[in-house]
Amino acid sequence: MLATSKINKIQGKITVPGDKSISHRAVMLSSISKGVSRIQGFLRGEDCLSTIACFQGLGIEIEDKGKEIIVQGKGLYGLKEPMDVLDAGNSGTTMRLLSGILAGQEFLTIVTGDSSLRKRPMARVAVPLRKMGAVIEGRDHGNLAPLVIRGGSLKAIDYASPVSSAQVKSAILLAGLYSEGSTIVREEITSRDHTEKMLKSLGAKITTGEGKVTVEKSELYNQDEIQVPGDISSAAFFMAAAAAIPDSHLIIEKVGLNPTRTGIVDVLKEMGAEIEIDNVFTSGGEEIGDIIIKGKKLQGTSIGKEIMPRLIDEIPVIAVIAAVAEGKTIITGAEELKVKESNRITSMVTEMKKLGIQVTELPDGMEIEGNNKISGSTVESYGDHRIAMAMAIAGLFASDPVKINNSECIAVSFPEFEEMLKQVAK
Ligand code: S3P
Repeated sequence: MLATSKINKIQGKITVPGDKSISHRAVMLSSISKGVSRIQGFLRGEDCLSTIACFQGLGIEIEDKGKEIIVQGKGLYGLKEPMDVLDAGNSGTTMRLLSGILAGQEFLTIVTGDSSLRKRPMARVAVPLRKMGAVIEGRDHGNLAPLVIRGGSLKAIDYASPVSSAQVKSAILLAGLYSEGSTIVREEITSRDHTEKMLKSLGAKITTGEGKVTVEKSELYNQDEIQVPGDISSAAFFMAAAAAIPDSHLIIEKVGLNPTRTGIVDVLKEMGAEIEIDNVFTSGGEEIGDIIIKGKKLQGTSIGKEIMPRLIDEIPVIAVIAAVAEGKTIITGAEELKVKESNRITSMVTEMKKLGIQVTELPDGMEIEGNNKISGSTVESYGDHRIAMAMAIAGLFASDPVKINNSECIAVSFPEFEEMLKQVAK
């Protein structure tokens, strides 16, 4: 069980593990590209290891050489019918993006996941993929895993997505690679665009703009080397803690700075944080740079629907530092948090209350009073990695230790979290 307690400040220089979203996509797209790909900076978290296992189950040779992951890509039609059920573990990205690829395969695949993933909505991908011509069945009329997918000849669709979700958008775009005609996905607010960027770099016929993405039937050609930047969603736990603890000074090197992911930087600045970005460069269409944070007392803020897709995974840790900021913080437009690895609104509100924080649950977010005195307690993670890490950050401000039950789930996205926290906590 992980336990954290009050510290004086955060100080040092760290490199966080590889971006989870990009690591998944690197394995998936390399598998369906022609040729050998070498993936560097790959995140060896449980979620991305599930993606590797699924593609190995589909007959792709993938080898972990330590320095890099080597994928022997077999092209769009090189996957084989798996001998057994594929297991996406805890990973929504694995199940949803994989469904898009499987929609283009004539063979039958069954995909399952852990007890959390088997409760998460899959109709959001099954509905458009069926429209394209795939046969998808599952529990609850095809909404819940295990999913049974038989793909085949697909036709393009023009789809206005009811949710801003990169997983939905990506599933449709990946199926679009196998479809006759122009596949279009429209979003009201643009979600993370790593799939579009990587598809472009692998030679797909893809165009973006005006709230829509269009892809044509395309072969993918491997890029030889894919460089995965540090995950800003993992960096966020350290960024938030350093920003909110006066006298802190933290440098996080080579973090992915894709504008569809940097909402955390904007919100921390809005709260008064001192943040600088340095040494920016681009690789595979993705911006990468160093983030430098100096700590001070922060102010409360309001966060709404517009920015939400750019910081959805960072809401738990933002809620924690809002509790020690000056003044109230209001978070709205965050309904999507209810269908993550746990219901992150209820999980956070329930556990923050156990630490003596004044917080009210809203139908689409929460309201957090500022200047709370955080007390120690034993809290639950709900098996949700980001809840566990957010609670660990809460402990850095608490009068007594915060002990987190089932904290092993942190390995889903950030196996080095505890060690790195020890390194910079002074
Ligand atoms: C992800 C998209 C987001 C995010 C998740 C990773 C991705 O989910 O919360 O952690 O890699 O595409 P949604 O697409 O459900 O918003």
